[in-house]
This record gives sequence, C-alpha cells and structure tokens, in this order.
Amino acid sequence: MNNFVYENPTKIIFGQGQISKISREIPAGSRVLITYGGGSVKKTGVLDEVKAALEGYDIVEFGGIEPNPTYETMMKAIEMVHSQKIDYLLAVGGGSVIDGTKFVAVGARYDGDPWEIMIRRGKGINEALPLGVVLTLPAAGSESNPRAVISRKSMNAKISLYSHAVFPRFAVLDPTKTYTLPIKQISNGVIDAFMHVFEQYMTCQMEARLQDRFAEGILHTLIELGPVALQEPENYDVRANLMLCATMALNGLIAAGVPQDWSTHMVGHELTALYGMEHASTLAALAPGMLTVLKDKKHAKLLQYGERIWGLTEGSEDERIDQAIAKTKAFFETMNLKTNLSDHGLTRDNIPEILDSLRAHDMVRLGEDQDVTPEVVRQALELSF
Ligand code: NZQ
Ligand code: ZN
Repeated sequence: MNNFVYENPTKIIFGQGQISKISREIPAGSRVLITYGGGSVKKTGVLDEVKAALEGYDIVEFGGIEPNPTYETMMKAIEMVHSQKIDYLLAVGGGSVIDGTKFVAVGARYDGDPWEIMIRRGKGINEALPLGVVLTLPAAGSESNPRAVISRKSMNAKISLYSHAVFPRFAVLDPTKTYTLPIKQISNGVIDAFMHVFEQYMTCQMEARLQDRFAEGILHTLIELGPVALQEPENYDVRANLMLCATMALNGLIAAGVPQDWSTHMVGHELTALYGMEHASTLAALAPGMLTVLKDKKHAKLLQYGERIWGLTEGSEDERIDQAIAKTKAFFETMNLKTNLSDHGLTRDNIPEILDSLRAHDMVRLGEDQDVTPEVVRQALELSF
C-alpha cells in the first residue's frame, strides 16, 4: 500500500426530508447564490423546497447551467457574485451544476482570468467562496470531492481542476429527489459511478485489501441495484443505496493508498468536447477497448475482478479475463448504454482528431504508470468500433 493523506471535509446529510436542515449549515446573514441547471429543479419543486428552507436569508438565483458546464456560462455567474456581493454558494442539481459552481467559487476569488485556474488544473488555488450542495442526480461524486470539470466551447476543451478549496462544506443527499430523473440519467449515473470505481481499482495488485473490498462492494451494489432502479424508479431503498454508491465511488476513500488510472475518463472528455457525447456514454463506449488493450498490464486485477464480481473461476486465465471484459460490456448494455463508438455516429476517420485533441490538452501520458500514450489510445479506439 502506498503512503497517503486522506481528508474529506464535506458533511453528508443523508435521507428523506433533509433539505429542511440546510439553514443550520449556512451562516446567518449570508447572501446566498442558488445555482441550478436547465430547470428540472423548478419542475420538481426542489428549488421551492430549498428556498423555503432558507427563509430569512438574502437569496439570489442563477439558473441555466448546462450539462457539461461551460466557462462562458459560469463567467456570468462570477459577475453576479461580484455585483450582488454574494458570500455563499448553494448548488442545487447534478454534477454539472456542482462543477460549474465550484468554478465560480474559485473564479470569484481569483485575480485574473479564471480560465487560468483550469490551465493550471487548480494547482496552487487555495481561495474559494464557501459552497453547499443539494444533490439531485447521483453520478459524478462532485458533491463531496475537490474536482470540477469545465468545458470551453470556443476551444473545444473539457478539462478538470483539482483543489481542496472547492470541497463542498455540506451536501444534502435526499434519495426521493432522484425519483424524477429520466431513465437515461439513472443509467448514466450508475455507469459513471461504476467507472469511477474502475479507474481507481482496475490497476495493479497493491495488497490494499480493504480498498479493494470497498471498491468491490460498490461494484456489486451497482450491478445488483442498477437494473432494479430502471424498473422501480421510486423504490426508496434502491435509490438510497445507489446514491450512497455514487458518493462513495469518488470521495477519496477507495483512492487512498492505491494508484489511479483515469485514462478512459480523459479520452472521454475529448469525445464530449469534440462531439457533444454525454459523459457516461463516452465511458461505456471506450472502457471495453481500453481494458482489452491494457489486459496484460492489468492481468492480476482483471482476474481478481472476474472472480470476485462475476464468479469466474473456470477456464484459463486469458479466458477468464476475456469473460470479465465481456461481462462488463454486457452490464453496460443491460443499463441501456451503447458500447460502440459507431453507435454515436463516429467512424475510424475520427481517430486522428481525437488523438490531436489529447495532445493539445497535454493528455499524452495517461494511466497509473503514465504509459497510456496516444498510440495506446489509438489501439483502444480501433477496438471501439
Ligand atoms: O439541467 P436540469 O434541467 O437540472 O436537468 C439535468 C440535466 O439535463 C437533469 N437532472 C438532474 N437532476 C434531475 C434531473 N432531471 C430530473 N430530475 C432530477 N432530479 O439531468 C441532466 C444531466 O445532469 P448533469 O448534472 O449534467 O449530470 P451528471 O450529474 O451526470 O454530471 C455530469 C457532469 O459531471 C462531470 C461530467 O464530466 C459532466 O460534465 N464529472 C464531474 C466529476 C467530478 N466533479 O468529480 C467526475 C466525473 O467523472 C465527471 O467527469
Ligand atoms: Zn465520470
């Protein structure tokens, strides 16, 4: 096991009816900017519930944050923070609203063009406005982590920042607020959380036994309950378990003391920036090819995964590994995700521009050993058609 420092300062307030408690978390007298997306929180009544819970506070609203939040949109929110003298941010929504609001939190305290924060990937950024979250979509894990992924349309860029300054102070996780999710978003959330576990688990054998078991526990739960959520969207226990899985998948716990990969995510971000593909769709289409190309390197872990998650104990090691990859792909398909880039209108002719984009964003040494070069990505992409 590697040395590590583990710290997660986000207070998780979990369960039905917990939105009513948010005023305990925000200092009295704060001027609060409530941020949200394209309007689902208005339709579902979550925004009204949040406002009712904040009676007595000065509230300003900023809506219209798009999926894959953009620099262009979030700069308008930063202007609002300054003009309205905001001192607390409250993100109400999914990963996009939370990520966009994290960018506002650091951007509003930055002396210069906030895009520089993204170019630095958040390095050296220690100042941010305080931020709270009311989560409506379990997927990204942004509600209790120090990351934000921001797109800049004019540059075809989608890149992430990492700074402890953007850890939310608190996050309300009320599973009943996920009942209104379109089926597609339930699928996306399960697969995104699954792939977050994979990026931290599917590396090399580290004798990090507890982290492995934590990771496998999340994978088992997602595989068991993901399909049930599609059939029974208002099953509280199913929704509660999936919500907790998504948070635990990317709050630092399973990353402690182990190497991390993230190459599928980084290539996926290029696909979103270039072709507008949804985040989870990129992961489902890329992961089988990536695993196949990297299967020798990840041999021991793929065997462990095959045995513990899918019960694969028969046949040669190579056969078991191929079956483990096939089972993973089949699970994505059970969750209605497409596992082929041609299903998204791409052809092999797109490969050179995807590789060019990776190079332009300095994504040329990916993976746990920084040996996933554009050439390795090319081989994986070839297998994704
Ligand atoms: O915009 P509204 O109208 O609110 O609708 C949203 C949006 O269209 C809708 N939605 C959310 N909650 C709902 C709901 N509709 C009905 N009922 C509800 N309760 O769902 C749609 C998708 O929302 P979005 O926030 O975009 O989805 P998600 O949570 O999957 O976030 C995706 C973003 O997170 C980033 C992704 O790259 C992507 O930009 N990620 C962030 C990470 C992080 N910060 O650690 C890590 C992840 O790997 C990921 O990259
Ligand atoms: Zn993700």
